[in-house]
Amino acid sequence: MYLYAVQRSHRWLVSQSHIVLLSIMHLKLIYQLGGLIPLCTSIGAQAQRPNIVFIMTDDQDLYLNSLDYQPAVKRELIGKGTTFSRHYVTVAKCCPSRASLLRGMAGHNTNITEVNAPGGNWDKWLISGQNEDYLPHWLTAAGYNAECMGHIITKLPYIGKIMNGYNTANYAQRPAGWTHIQTAVDQYTYEYNNVVFSLDGNTPVSYPGYHQSDVIRAMSVDRIEELSAQDKPFFLGIAPTSPHMEPGGGKWPVPPVRYKDKFPDLKAPRAANWNPNDTYQQQKASWVKGLPLLNETTIERLDGLYRARAQSLLGVDDIVEDVIAKLAEKNILDNTYIIYTSDNGWHIGNHRISAGKSLHYKEDSNVPFIVRGPGVPANITSLLPGAHLDLAPTFLDIAGVKPDDPGYPQFLDGRSLLDNWKNPATELTQCPVNGGGHEVINVEYWGIGEEASPWGQISHPNNSYKTLRIVHPDGGTYLYSKWCTGDTELYETASDPGELTNRALNADEDEDISRLLSRLNALLMAAKSCAGDTCRNPWSLLQPEAERRAIPAQANLTITCLEQALEPKFDDFFASVPEVSFEKCMAYQYRPNEMPYWPENVDLGEAYRKPTDNYISSSPKGEKVVSQGFFGTVTQRNVMLSEILKTAKELTPEQLG
Ligand SMILES: *[C@@H]1O[C@H](CO)[C@@H](O)[C@H](O)[C@H]1NC(C)=O
Ligand SMILES: *[C@@H]1O[C@H](CO)[C@@H](O)[C@H](O)[C@H]1NC(C)=O
Ligand SMILES: *[C@@H]1O[C@H](CO)[C@@H](O)[C@H](O)[C@H]1NC(C)=O
Ligand SMILES: *[C@@H]1O[C@H](CO)[C@@H](O)[C@H](O)[C@H]1NC(C)=O
Ligand SMILES: *[C@@H]1O[C@H](CO)[C@@H](O)[C@H](O)[C@H]1NC(C)=O
Ligand SMILES: *[C@@H]1O[C@H](CO)[C@@H](O)[C@H](O)[C@H]1NC(C)=O
Repeated sequence: MYLYAVQRSHRWLVSQSHIVLLSIMHLKLIYQLGGLIPLCTSIGAQAQRPNIVFIMTDDQDLYLNSLDYQPAVKRELIGKGTTFSRHYVTVAKCCPSRASLLRGMAGHNTNITEVNAPGGNWDKWLISGQNEDYLPHWLTAAGYNAECMGHIITKLPYIGKIMNGYNTANYAQRPAGWTHIQTAVDQYTYEYNNVVFSLDGNTPVSYPGYHQSDVIRAMSVDRIEELSAQDKPFFLGIAPTSPHMEPGGGKWPVPPVRYKDKFPDLKAPRAANWNPNDTYQQQKASWVKGLPLLNETTIERLDGLYRARAQSLLGVDDIVEDVIAKLAEKNILDNTYIIYTSDNGWHIGNHRISAGKSLHYKEDSNVPFIVRGPGVPANITSLLPGAHLDLAPTFLDIAGVKPDDPGYPQFLDGRSLLDNWKNPATELTQCPVNGGGHEVINVEYWGIGEEASPWGQISHPNNSYKTLRIVHPDGGTYLYSKWCTGDTELYETASDPGELTNRALNADEDEDISRLLSRLNALLMAAKSCAGDTCRNPWSLLQPEAERRAIPAQANLTITCLEQALEPKFDDFFASVPEVSFEKCMAYQYRPNEMPYWPENVDLGEAYRKPTDNYISSSPKGEKVVSQGFFGTVTQRNVMLSEILKTAKELTPEQLG
């Protein structure tokens, strides 16, 4: 009887996989005719697969110690999970970083590289077809309920400009793939006391009288109540706007009013690279080099910004506290991975920049990253590196979908971090066999350097750069960067954690440095246009023997890590690799501007998206909803969604424009 049952289910599985193969072939055909391949996978008996709750704040820092002011994050996540202190974003700005995370691809492959046209925004995501083929589609195909509350990928720029993003003009073109999505709608995304969300692309709804973090908290708790009653595992994304600035230039984030007097004496940390003297500042690149010292009035205001950020993060802390309490109440906490991070980092006063993001320095690119969940050790910090483009593969791994499965998206540039999450104390090997490339983090950027000065927003042109971070055990850690202005930066980050002394400036007098620079240039040349395996291990493109480059199995490489590459016998090979350069500074990725490539005929993700040349962005036209007052009172701390819905109002045709 038992044997018979096993045989039957085996037969069933075989016939299922035939069906899957057929449909994949069919989809490939569609793809060749110009469409995109959605993931389609067989759903076996996988009842106990874990849930995933992914919480991502907007512009939260690691190095300004913001996590210190979040008691629930400290108690429930840091204390009961693992903190990964070397987790990076691949583009240090909201929209490109979110696009890279949701597609599992480097910015040069999504080509969503800025917050406004032509570099990127919601319209570009739609027009490029990426909305039809990204994380929630894959999770749904794997049998998950994929849901999201908050602000996924929208982005609006500063006051005075037309606002581009997911907005009151294009909301009906909803973020596809989710089984339930409540998205913040521009031009309200960053107005903490004027909350307007669209559910599943329906007419946007205003929630007057409530603070955004309370609305997101209530919606998240409500969804867990709903989801826990269903049989399926779920993925729940929670993306609050805190601690992003309010729009308008120089306007701090507005915390729930119950927290507005917290931390009265708090000041931004004065780290080694705080407002540095001329000796250091003159070593910087592009616009950063010319900045004057911050004066006392500015510094006083920046301390105010620092306090407002910590206060506004208390609203996020309430979300974390209630989400965890609800998961516990439903008895699913132990089978849920909770991931806490930010879309990019943030600096205040570092390198004389008043405040902001968009740089490659550690403050902007190395983000908070904490994981609690099944098999993840409690209360430890791990040095194992990871990046946001690794998250889609990791979530698929949790869902039981593996790279060899039919229908696994072939274009993913990251790798699953699940093994690292379960074994976070593993030591990195100095020179791993066949690389694995774990030492190489590629951070890139096109467009505007955004300075959130307390005197108003400043947009610095000439902020396009390509960067590598080499994360190695026992020293040998570097930040290397080539700018569109021709500047080069090299910091030895183990001995110079402030990233202050630019070693690229005296390369001529130092043979070791010039040898190192030739290797890093080659590695950056390979990484700047990598795809799939070559992103996971760019060394595979840098084999002295041309016929051994980028062999799929990556077996038997001659050079697998920086330490090996530095051997003098490879000097001639590395000298033969062209210099990474830009013809000029441009606000978006334009192939001829960044020639040459290695190898010459690279794809830049074009096979997996549609062209976007000269696309037109939509912009909101309606009369804005007016909101007065400060919400998030003490009594609203525990307000439920049913209460919030009582006064909710659909936007009128006039407000939609
Ligand atoms: C800047 O500070 C460094 C370290 O304190 C010092 O060596 C250097 O002389 C200073 N430069 C100037 C211009 O004050
Ligand atoms: C301080 O710097 C800001 C920004 O450069 C400037 O607007 C302000 O006038 C300065 N204040 C003083 C007192 O120098
Ligand atoms: C976490 O570890 C620190 C030391 O690293 C220790 O002081 C603290 O008590 C631990 N917390 C818990 C909840 O175990
Ligand atoms: C931008 O860089 C170019 C060199 O590529 C330079 O000529 C120009 O002056 C720079 N512009 C600004 C505003 O810094
Ligand atoms: C690696 O390749 C070289 C050259 O083709 C060959 O001599 C050597 O035996 C190979 N080693 C392994 C472990 O495959
Ligand atoms: C990136 O997007 C811009 C703007 O739509 C487009 O002109 C450019 O060709 C794209 N680059 C690549 C490599 O796809």
